[in-house]
Amino acid sequence: MHADIDRILFSEAEIVSGIDRVAGEVTRAYSGRDFTVVSVLKGSCVFASDLIRRIPIPLELAFLAASSYGDGTESGALEINFFPTGNEIEGRNLLLVDDILDTGRTLHGLKAELARRGAAEVRSCVFLDKPSRRAVPLQADFRVFEVQNLFVVGYGLDYAGRYRNLPYVASLREEIYSSPPTARKA
Ligand code: IMP
Ligand code: MG
Repeated sequence: MHADIDRILFSEAEIVSGIDRVAGEVTRAYSGRDFTVVSVLKGSCVFASDLIRRIPIPLELAFLAASSYGDGTESGALEINFFPTGNEIEGRNLLLVDDILDTGRTLHGLKAELARRGAAEVRSCVFLDKPSRRAVPLQADFRVFEVQNLFVVGYGLDYAGRYRNLPYVASLREEIYSSPPTARKA
């Protein structure tokens, strides 16, 4: 276990079975329909790449980049850094895939922007869901795990740009947060 970790919340084995379950739900929901998985960078790249390999029906893949976090663990304003091209959005059924649904501001803003750019349908699939933190009313159409109000890292999720490469989801030791980070997160 990494020295900065306090507790593992979801092990690699739990993640694999959670993703299998949600991949089955997504497959049933989109069977016989064209759809595009839109991975929200950077956080969802690990989840999205595991998820799509467990979905056996045709799909396309697109990426967008958005950041909502400043230096700490509190939500800031949504900034969209890049978007798929018009023909990847217009008239398409999109499945937005993100690492975690926290206040909901990111997915709410992204859904509105994709709809504005002509998407036929926008649904969402999140790896983690923290319902206790919601600031805008939004529910994910698909989610792997619910988590309590606790800042977590690993499996794509970062603190100050680090820990995305941990293969499990964990909380950090208290002292890690006490020296303020400088890196920007997405
Ligand atoms: P929201 O807009 O508040 O829903 O925030 C969504 C984004 O905040 C996620 O895509 C993450 O980048 C970040 N985030 C929220 N909670 C956590 C956490 O516990 N660990 C790491 N990143 C988080
Ligand atoms: Mg993110």
